[in-house]
Amino acid sequence: MRTVRTVAELRAALKQPRREERSIGLVPTMGFLHDGHLSLIRQARAEHDEVVVSLFVNPTQFNEASDLAAYPRDERRDAALAAEAGADLLFAPPVEEVYPTGFATEVRVGGPLTESLEGVQRGAGHFHGVTTVVTKLLNMVQPDTAYFGQKDAQQALVIRRLVRDLDLPVRIEVLPTVREPDGLALSSRNVRLQGEDRRRALALSRALQAAESDLAAGVRDAAELTAGLADVFSAFDVEPEYIALVDPETLAPVATVDQETLLAVAAKVGEVRLIDNTILNSNGNGRA
Ligand code: PAF
Repeated sequence: MRTVRTVAELRAALKQPRREERSIGLVPTMGFLHDGHLSLIRQARAEHDEVVVSLFVNPTQFNEASDLAAYPRDERRDAALAAEAGADLLFAPPVEEVYPTGFATEVRVGGPLTESLEGVQRGAGHFHGVTTVVTKLLNMVQPDTAYFGQKDAQQALVIRRLVRDLDLPVRIEVLPTVREPDGLALSSRNVRLQGEDRRRALALSRALQAAESDLAAGVRDAAELTAGLADVFSAFDVEPEYIALVDPETLAPVATVDQETLLAVAAKVGEVRLIDNTILNSNGNGRA
C-alpha cells in the first residue's frame, strides 16, 4: 500500500487503473481505524480492483475546537491496519491540501436531514462540513463506490441525498454497525472513555436493546417507548441528548412504530459524545 498526500499524487496513482478500466472503491475515514472501518475496507476490497482509503480529520465538521484537538490520531497504526484489510492507496492529505488559502466554497444539504437530531445538537454546520469534504473526496478519487457506516445513520442519509441531488456518479454503500462483544458501537472516540465511563457508555446500546424487547412485547407508542428508554439511560446515570423515533428516510418523528423506524440516540458520557441507532420493525426485530 502506498501513501499519497496531494491530489496530484493521488490522480497520478489512479491514472493507470482508470485507463485499464479497473474499478475503484473509496473508504473515507478520519483515521484511528477500528473494526467498523476495516469491515468497510474489506467490503471495498471484495468488490473493487483498487481500494483507496482516505485519512483526513476534517476540521470543518467539528463544532467544538476541544473535540477536534482531542480527536485520536495515529497514522502509522492506521496505515498498517488499512494495508492489512486490503487497501492499495492511503490518501492522507494535510489540511492545506484540502482547504488551501482562499478556499471559499461550501456544499450544503438543506432541510430536516441536516437540521434535526445531530443538526440540532452539533448545528447543521457539522453536516455542511461533512458534505463539503465528501464532495471533494469524491471528486478527487472519482470512485465507483464509496463506503460508509450505519452507525452514522443521519450522515449516511445526508450523503445519499447529496449524491442524488448533485447527480454524482458514485454508488453509496452503507454497512452495518460493528459492536464490541458487550454491545458498545465501535467509534474512534471510545478510546477516550475513562474508567467507569466505559461501562456507562453501554446506556446507548442497552437502550436500543430495550426498545426491541418493548416492541416485541407489543409497545408501539413512541412516547411510551421513549419513556422506557429514558429509564435505561438513568439506570446508567447518563443523560440522553436525544432519544428519537423517526422515519428512516426523512427523519420525520413517528408517533407509533408500525413500520420500519429509525431509533437514534445520543449522549455525552464523561467527556465523550456518543451516538448509536438501530432500525426497528414493528415486530421488534432490530438491525443496527
Ligand atoms: O464518518 C466520518 O468519519 C467522516 O464524517 C467522513 C465521512 C470521513 C467525512 O469527514
